[in-house]
Amino acid sequence: MSQTEPTLIRIFDTTLRDGEQSPGATMSSYEKLEVGRALSRLGVDIIEAGFPCASPDDWKAVKTLAEQIGREPMPGRPQVTPPTICGLARAAVKDIELCATAVKPALFPRIHTFLATSPIHREHKLRMSRAQVLERIAAMVAFAREKCEDIEFSCEDAARTEPDFLVEAVAAAIAAGASTINIPDTVGFTTPDEYGAIIGNLVRNVPGIEKIILSVHCHNDLGLATANTLAGLRAGARQAEVTINGIGERAGNTSLEEVVMAMKVRPDLYGMTSQVDTTQLIRTSRFVSQTTGMVVQPNKAIVGSNAFAHEAGIHQDGVLKHAATYEIMRPEMVGLAQSNLILGKHSGRHAFQVRLEELGHPLVGEALDKAFARFKELADRKKTVNNADILTVLTSDVSDDTAYFTLDGLQVACGSMGMPTATVRLIGPDQQVHVRASVGTGPVDAAFKAIDEITGLTARLLEYVVMGVTEGIDAVGNVTVRIEGPIDNPRMNAQTEVLGRLFHGHGADTDIIVASAKAYLSALNRLLHARDGARAPAAAV
Ligand code: KIV
Ligand code: ZN
Repeated sequence: MSQTEPTLIRIFDTTLRDGEQSPGATMSSYEKLEVGRALSRLGVDIIEAGFPCASPDDWKAVKTLAEQIGREPMPGRPQVTPPTICGLARAAVKDIELCATAVKPALFPRIHTFLATSPIHREHKLRMSRAQVLERIAAMVAFAREKCEDIEFSCEDAARTEPDFLVEAVAAAIAAGASTINIPDTVGFTTPDEYGAIIGNLVRNVPGIEKIILSVHCHNDLGLATANTLAGLRAGARQAEVTINGIGERAGNTSLEEVVMAMKVRPDLYGMTSQVDTTQLIRTSRFVSQTTGMVVQPNKAIVGSNAFAHEAGIHQDGVLKHAATYEIMRPEMVGLAQSNLILGKHSGRHAFQVRLEELGHPLVGEALDKAFARFKELADRKKTVNNADILTVLTSDVSDDTAYFTLDGLQVACGSMGMPTATVRLIGPDQQVHVRASVGTGPVDAAFKAIDEITGLTARLLEYVVMGVTEGIDAVGNVTVRIEGPIDNPRMNAQTEVLGRLFHGHGADTDIIVASAKAYLSALNRLLHARDGARAPAAAV
């Protein structure tokens, strides 16, 4: 057992930036704000809220988080200062200027700028020599430092950079004023021993390294992101860059819950801690999953639905006799099996509002009215409404600015005796009611076809997942769809910016056909939003 005080590791959450770069996981600025609130409640130190130069909507998201989350103490923890709000910027004047305006309202703003340092990126992507890269780092970090006190610099593809050049690049960024230096394994190529050695080499050889925070940022292409991150922390890094559920580019980023729980469960080995409230992990994971449409695999460590389930008789017997026989952490530590008092149709608005606050989603005014109406509707159909149902009500009722079409009614006829038929009624962007009926191979297919006819879109359905939120035959059904930009449609083909792009949608209802229609519609709404240019194509990173 370590006798000394544990070392505090800063948790830098990039769910809203690198996580959002997962194909199809795009969030609107409203959704980003809601996820930002959940992250703040979780207790992360830094929220990377987006890439302001990527689109006007991303700039707005970063600014809104800076204004609304970056100025308030963490919900439920008045003694904890607000999280730092960070925006990403390439090492270019325009990016940095735009980023600075977006993060400015926060009490603790940060600009995170980056430039690739590896030979493969220098030669083929940047076409810059070592000297030019060093010069650009020094100039852009110094420029950013004029706009903001807190500057993070990342050596993109650091893990494949020559060790001597990495030392020079890090030294240049420190000399120019960076206070955090991040060492990304951008392509998920390294192994724990190698990555720990890279960090150790910097700790030993960079002049001035003791004045700054070294940060680790790993991708999961070989399934080693968490192991690499922990190896980097043991070698001297003091900030971990992570995402909820490990979402992110390609195979994803390091998962926040895995790193935080590894430090908590093995203090003997790591001697490290974080200020994350681990009892918020499950609900944050579920909220992010529903908001991004990225379904969590049942056997995912910490937050998967099977992570604390014991099936084998011997295991069940052991856990009943003493939990520690087969459990290395208690479910309560991650927020499972917390007070889940049921609400029902007689519960009042105040009880509902208090529960929302406890769940980390305080609502007032019109937003509360809408959510309460939706809760009442649900409680009429389902005798008991628990926390999971309430969170579903919230995420499915996100009244964001991407809603072009809303579902106003749906009726299906199906079974083994005839042709499945769906009649769909939508309210369009013109506030007019549109009704179409269609047949299909099943009720979902028929409903989607009717929606296609009204919206004039034909998207390719890539993924369709239905899950019950809770146990029981009356459970709310959660549907997630992923679609690819429109195909074979003359009205859309000119809009090349959405062709081939992925969009997700989420819907929840006790009727899974209704949930499916809502999910499909929400994905189409995102597609329309992108087509109309509110989200310009993201700048290449
Ligand atoms: O993986 C990476 O290199 C990044 C940088 C932009 C920090 O995400
Ligand atoms: Zn990354």
